[in-house]
Amino acid sequence: MNKKTISDVNLLGKKVLMRVDYNVPMDENGEITDDARIRETLPTLNFLLSQGAAIILMAHFGRPKGQVVESMRLAPVARRLSELLDQNRRQIKTVSDTIGSEAKQAAASLDENDILMLENVRFHSEEEANDANFARELANLADVYVNDAFGAAHRAHASTEGVAHAMREQGKPCVAGLLMARELDFLGRVVTNPQRPFVAILGGVKVSDKIGVIRSLLEKVDTLLIGGAMSYAFESAQGREVGTSYFKSEDAPIAAELLQLARESGKDFRLPKDFIVADRDAEDAQTAVVPAGSIPPDMMGMDIGPETIAEYSRVVESARTVLWNGPMGRFEVTPFAGGTRAIAEAAARATAKGATTVIGGGDSAAAAKQMGLAEQMTHVSTGGGASLEFLEGIELPGVAALDDK
Ligand code: 3PG
Repeated sequence: MNKKTISDVNLLGKKVLMRVDYNVPMDENGEITDDARIRETLPTLNFLLSQGAAIILMAHFGRPKGQVVESMRLAPVARRLSELLDQNRRQIKTVSDTIGSEAKQAAASLDENDILMLENVRFHSEEEANDANFARELANLADVYVNDAFGAAHRAHASTEGVAHAMREQGKPCVAGLLMARELDFLGRVVTNPQRPFVAILGGVKVSDKIGVIRSLLEKVDTLLIGGAMSYAFESAQGREVGTSYFKSEDAPIAAELLQLARESGKDFRLPKDFIVADRDAEDAQTAVVPAGSIPPDMMGMDIGPETIAEYSRVVESARTVLWNGPMGRFEVTPFAGGTRAIAEAAARATAKGATTVIGGGDSAAAAKQMGLAEQMTHVSTGGGASLEFLEGIELPGVAALDDK
């Protein structure tokens, strides 16, 4: 990585303004259901504390659209972070604003090893507008800017991008945290210098969301395996029946264009040979296995079928580099989880044989966690949209704004 990290700056006695992505899933009772994004920042926090810094955390939660939304306050996140940090550490201090007088006073009175969490930056419309004055107010709070929010690095917002420019104007360093560096290292290694065979598995719902990634990966991979609901766009693009499967007609021309591109690339591009179909999307649905091209008009495709599972598993297991983004089916519902589970298991076996296996965030990361297999991957990204944009080759504004090495 050509950006400076926290190892490149003097942190003793400094106040560090650290952007994190604590946009974690929460249930209706306000309970955090997956704290990976918080856990993954602990190495950075512990490093900063060990170097004698005080930390001011800033984060967004949800999409409050510039308004204070009570259910989107960061207090539950701060509580979980306190629980996760070393017991001897001081409590996380919280304030109910971001750049107001309460925040300024709390930031000014921080001692070495204190941690302060500002309120949700998206309570201010200036955050998403990347407002220069707002960014300057944030920059005034600290001596060093650390961005550890890989999951939000594709957003050019005040706390991810503008603040770095404001800090630099004030002669203050802007560097990557350890999570940010790790994400860029693993995802970067996969796309720039993969050990071969390099196999990518792409799934998920909409082919239009993945068009850039498919184009980009076709240039890099040896084999590209397609699964998930986006398969039905490829089916339809070949004039095949998709029944009542999830499918938007505007996706068919995109799929047709990608099929053409895949043909021209000469790469090993594979679509499912069979599907699990169901009469409805439910735990007690009536299901059947059908070959591709034979989805009955009154049934919906819900998962890849056994022949595809066997074939894809073989390909994944014998790869040296595996990149997976997007589930193979509706894994949240038991009868349709088999394809996603099989891919996760094949990737885990590949890791055990020495391959580098990377899950590009979002639903496939959630699936691997739900199946208890996340620990058996080389790297599970904390970024959904950010990892897709990175894999597409788009420069992430939150990274570009940091100091060069
Ligand atoms: C995410 O959850 O992908 C990131 O936190 C970014 O959130 P956003 O899509 O609301 O910008």
